[in-house]
Amino acid sequence: MFRTHTCGELTTAHNGKIVTLAGWVQTVRKFGSITFVDLRDRYGITQLFFGEALNNDLDANPLGREFVLQATGLVRERSNKNLNIPTGEIELEVQTFTILNKSAVPPFTIQDDTDGGDDLRMKYRYLDLRRNAVRKNLELRYAVNRSARNFLHQNGFMDIETPFLIKSTPEGARDFVVPSRMNPGQFYALPQSPQTFKQLLMVSGYDRYYQVVKCFRDEDLRADRQPEFTQIDCEMAFVEQEDILNMFEGMIKTIIKDVKGIDYDEKVERMTWEEAMWQYGNDKPDIRFGMKLCNLKYPAHTFPGRASLESLISGVDFKVFEEAETVIAIAVPGCSEYTRKQTDELTEWVKRPQIGMKGLVFIKCNADGTYKSSVDKFYSEEKLKAIADAAGAVAGDLVLILAGAEERTRKATSELRLEMGERLGLRKKEELKLLWVLDFPLFEYAEEENRWVARHHPFTSPKPSQITEMINNSPVIDNPAEYLKHPYASIKANAYDMVLNGNEIGGGSIRIYQKELQQKMFEALGMDAEEQQHKFGFLLGAFEYGAPPHGGIAFGFDRLCSILGGSESIRDFIAFPKNNSGRDVMLDAPSAIDAKQLQELQIQLNLK
Ligand code: AMO
Repeated sequence: MFRTHTCGELTTAHNGKIVTLAGWVQTVRKFGSITFVDLRDRYGITQLFFGEALNNDLDANPLGREFVLQATGLVRERSNKNLNIPTGEIELEVQTFTILNKSAVPPFTIQDDTDGGDDLRMKYRYLDLRRNAVRKNLELRYAVNRSARNFLHQNGFMDIETPFLIKSTPEGARDFVVPSRMNPGQFYALPQSPQTFKQLLMVSGYDRYYQVVKCFRDEDLRADRQPEFTQIDCEMAFVEQEDILNMFEGMIKTIIKDVKGIDYDEKVERMTWEEAMWQYGNDKPDIRFGMKLCNLKYPAHTFPGRASLESLISGVDFKVFEEAETVIAIAVPGCSEYTRKQTDELTEWVKRPQIGMKGLVFIKCNADGTYKSSVDKFYSEEKLKAIADAAGAVAGDLVLILAGAEERTRKATSELRLEMGERLGLRKKEELKLLWVLDFPLFEYAEEENRWVARHHPFTSPKPSQITEMINNSPVIDNPAEYLKHPYASIKANAYDMVLNGNEIGGGSIRIYQKELQQKMFEALGMDAEEQQHKFGFLLGAFEYGAPPHGGIAFGFDRLCSILGGSESIRDFIAFPKNNSGRDVMLDAPSAIDAKQLQELQIQLNLK
């Protein structure tokens, strides 16, 4: 037996026992004729004490960092206790030891506060994984995985694997493709998600399916995106939207309880997509704090039927607001005393290329009831007060106003809101706030191609009340400038996203299950009958054989873990992640393949 205990379990209860530990040498501290070694494994750290009698042995077999060591000895109480770790009250008085393996000097220290930079740690990921911080993340990931599986199992879901080598049908992100040696000139694609398979499983009668499954998307990477990532993918038959929302609200609450020990008792809030865009400028709003958008001016067709506040800013000769398509204000609590330097800095912040605004207007709502603004020249104090009131500002607040083109301004205001929320400490990591965003538009307009694309995916069902509208209207857009007036622009989908603290952690929809409606959908996306048959013949075929009503959802497993773990980056929660250029720097992948492999595949490179 290599060990009797782990490095994380010995306490004073083991005093006087002879035990054997095995692990990695974290530190070696020599004091004259005695030596202390911190021995680490996955479970913790135990202090080893080497007395004078072992001096010669140690000289003959010197220990170094990350050596693999086996030590047998007596558990005894420590004189110098460390109450910060579970094993801190004891030490092992070593009687015999064996070096099981040596280690080269590691390229960075394997401790909580490491001296290794990102690239180095990625290159030696197997060493980074020895660090506590990373191990804790993987443990959390496993806990989320277990909790989700238990919940789904208890609710009658069945884990069914689906293939990774499938057919390329790009829509949304790009596919990763794999050449087929046995079918020269032909390629498989790696699935962006098991979407069509889970729908086929519903046709086959497996009415509650799930899978914790890898998905592959060749898209630009960000902190919350990886080219291969994992979904908790689910589908149910004979359900309506409400059934899905309830089931998966239950799943997430169970995960939060199991993993964080938090009872999320309240009902998950719900908001329509339009309301989210109107109040937060964002389809995944962080509702841990207010600071809602005050829409002073906007193109009428983007939010039909909303009362206009334009009179508050019109009637003066202020060109910036007059010429802007959209003007939006937010009231930042308690910041009326911002200095010139601070407002200048905020102005620079909104001018950064990522935000892309030309400037920032502010109104200080002073504690004494007066108003001071960067546009005092144009607006009387009375008008400033009216604007500030509309934005919901009270004495002591700072109103920030952005003006410009609709989409950009809305997005910029949303970013500014999040930034101010962050700066003011309103986005507390320990606070978890779930939200369902509902009623997404079914279509999005693709300007470059002058056509409709599916906002979620082509299998998403329109709201039942709008099906006739979809069937009776042609998708052709005669006047691209006025695409918003096309009937398709206002068709809403039975689609929903789950948002946690301003992050989209999951998304799904009720599916189309009638062949004719699915064909109409494909047609709306610009696919003729031949293309439909070529790409999705199997699905249309299946829909001829008794497809039940069904719907589902997929959660971003890595994202969910990173938020529950309090980190921005999903990489920290993936054992072997890719870097921002999609590279595995440890494996040095992707890489060229040799001429023989290319020949077998009958592929000739034509690199530019
Ligand atoms: P969707 O594309 O919205 O839906 O994906 C579901 C969830 O997966 C996560 N996610 C990602 N996580 C890390 N890296 C990525 N590149 C990445 N892309 C997406 C997000 C997202 O909410 N088949 C549908 C689901 C359905 O309709 O049932 C789908 O894949 O958290």
